[in-house]
Amino acid sequence: MKVFRLSSKDATQFLKGGEMGFDSLLNTGRIGAMSLSNRVVLPAMDMNLCDDGDFSKAEIAHYTARAAGGVGLIITGTGAVAWPSGACSWHQPSFSDDRHIPSISALVQSVHAAGSKLCVQICHHGKTAGVDTAQDRPLLVPSYPQGKLDLTALQDNTMDELIKLGSASHGKQARYKEADEDDLAWVIEQFAQGAKRASRAGVDAVEIHAAHGYLVNTFLSAGYNKRTDRWGGSIENRGRLMTEIIRAVRNQIGDLVAISVRLNGMEYGLQDGMTPSEAAIFAVMAQDAGADAIHVSANAHNPFADFTDGPLPSAEAQYREYARIIKKAVTIPVIAVGRISPEIGDEMISRGECDFVSMGRQLLADPDVVNKLKAGQRKSIRPCINCYVCVEQNFFDAPPKCAVNPALCDESLAQLVSTSHTKRVLIVGGGPAGLEAARIAASRGHLVSLYEASSRLGGTAWFSKLTTPANGALVDWLEHEVRRLGVQIFLKKRLSAVDILELAPNEVIIATGAIRNRPVNEHTDYGDSRVYTGDDLRALLTGEGIVTGASQKTRLVARLARVFGISSNISRVRYWSKMYLPLGKDVTIVGGGLVGLELAEFLAERGRTVTVVEEQAHLGLPMAMPRRWSAVQKVANHGVQLRRSSTDVVASKDVIIANNVSAEAPIADELRAAGMSTHVIGDAHDVGYIEGAIHSAGKVAREI
Ligand SMILES: Cc1cc2nc3c(=O)[nH]c(=O)nc-3n(C[C@H](O)[C@H](O)[C@H](O)COP(=O)(O)O)c2cc1C
Ligand code: SF4
Repeated sequence: MKVFRLSSKDATQFLKGGEMGFDSLLNTGRIGAMSLSNRVVLPAMDMNLCDDGDFSKAEIAHYTARAAGGVGLIITGTGAVAWPSGACSWHQPSFSDDRHIPSISALVQSVHAAGSKLCVQICHHGKTAGVDTAQDRPLLVPSYPQGKLDLTALQDNTMDELIKLGSASHGKQARYKEADEDDLAWVIEQFAQGAKRASRAGVDAVEIHAAHGYLVNTFLSAGYNKRTDRWGGSIENRGRLMTEIIRAVRNQIGDLVAISVRLNGMEYGLQDGMTPSEAAIFAVMAQDAGADAIHVSANAHNPFADFTDGPLPSAEAQYREYARIIKKAVTIPVIAVGRISPEIGDEMISRGECDFVSMGRQLLADPDVVNKLKAGQRKSIRPCINCYVCVEQNFFDAPPKCAVNPALCDESLAQLVSTSHTKRVLIVGGGPAGLEAARIAASRGHLVSLYEASSRLGGTAWFSKLTTPANGALVDWLEHEVRRLGVQIFLKKRLSAVDILELAPNEVIIATGAIRNRPVNEHTDYGDSRVYTGDDLRALLTGEGIVTGASQKTRLVARLARVFGISSNISRVRYWSKMYLPLGKDVTIVGGGLVGLELAEFLAERGRTVTVVEEQAHLGLPMAMPRRWSAVQKVANHGVQLRRSSTDVVASKDVIIANNVSAEAPIADELRAAGMSTHVIGDAHDVGYIEGAIHSAGKVAREI
């Protein structure tokens, strides 16, 4: 007789309603003398919230929220050991003076009280130390930089952005100095003294930053280090600065404070740059010098070209292989990073590919990842949508913003205050803005009903999954949350002002999205081309709504797709669109903003000859910078013709209008005229895509 047995993992999963148990991720762990309650790490992410080198209240609140959310180990955003020398930011933590010890102590106590351990990341920023340039010091490098960075991506930056890019350096021109023996002895001592101050403040660990193009990294990498003295040439010589720093730090802090070393597992776009196998040799050298853990990241030489490869990868688990290679080489714990989901992280640990998993942006988007996993609430984790809005602020020396989490850098916004007067709140529109408003209002105790004209929730964000699948996770999360919170949802219900007045709610929130207008002079401007707006395109691909201008055959295919259920699932549409797309061979996209570029890539990948015509001088606005630079590069690599500062539409059968979008909510005027308390949010209020939708919704729903 066959007997079915449940493993303990299956049993836990069963008890948690079919969710994975995440046993490996939630298991306790150890790094050096530091014991940790689970394997999830918050990696260093600059908050740029320090006051004169001290951790501010807002920054302490940020780390404490992640500690309270269950994260095993908190690593602070990179601090400068000789601040302001060797600093990349005016607002980063300083470890250069005893006067900073009280603020480090306050942070340690707060994180400990919330149940986590604290590690500080210490660094000298070498060739990227903008504060050195601002204060007229040369940048320390192993060797003078060779060649010039390709800066063509900057043509898609506005003047305002270009000015802000020079914030840390005060817009001054950098000078370089090849570090001599005295400089290097000073650097080693600064690391040792900085680590000692951190240890006196009570930290559990320090992380030596030997990655991301900073000083120690540039000595390790043959791409930057061209020296022929004892600090360059052989791999031993290139590793010398790192190992001497590790030994000097260990001498100062003893064995009770752990040392992690952050290394690049790979250097993208750099001739002679580090490879995973070379990184493994450096990892062993670090271990032999006294490191307790290796944190495996990666970097790209040109941030204006390849930032979405490193240090912030766009592909899921992009650095998995690098961590695995290093794990095989060392005996100390390995921390992996790089868009690692809880599922993949759990699998990596259980397969012995790493010991700990860092989740960076995911923990900016939701500080409570670990607690939600423990509680079997995986679906309640607010997903990071890989939009790069957070890190764009780093380029401006400013605190990060999160598109999906308005409470980043202001944790007070995360505390939703229960209402003392329960109101009936009616929301019109089921896109991200409407859903987020519903989520917050319902969480606060209001009675919320949401009306959506189409047959599904998600609005244009649902359709954007076609070109940007990461947006889908946000729509799924919002829908899961509003249903969990008991929001009454009415689909296929288009309400007029009269309907709303009859329903007589206490508050109305209009979230009907932007209007995508047809061009006024369609026939003069585009001749006999078929002209589609975003709405037409959606109707074409999903078989829903009215398609203006499409041929009989195209409409028939759209209808068939709907009948066979292909178009109700956007992942299926994405898949099938590789085989059939109801558009001709040549497509012109009018508008090279966020939507236009994403669409151009999608169509080019499906064999279309695409031209993008943008009236303004810059492409990709308002995409966050690193993503914008990559998106422009990607479509150009796909052969898409890009025309900036142009209104000339080339002759092509199909023209897609990806601009001409306006914020309108006429129904709101009617309701206000009738005396109803009415709010307008999201693109209906001001076209701001997902970030604008989520932030404006939160602002209104917190206040009603
Ligand atoms: C806003 C922001 C700031 C960052 N600052 C640092 C930093 O100070 N030091 C560092 O080593 N890495 C920094 N990183 C990189 C992260 O530690 C992490 O390696 C990266 O985000 C990839 O992980 P993820 O895909 O889980 O976000 C930063 C990332 C972000 C998003
Ligand atoms: S801003 Fe975007 S990329 Fe950054 S954490 Fe938030 S959702 Fe993720």
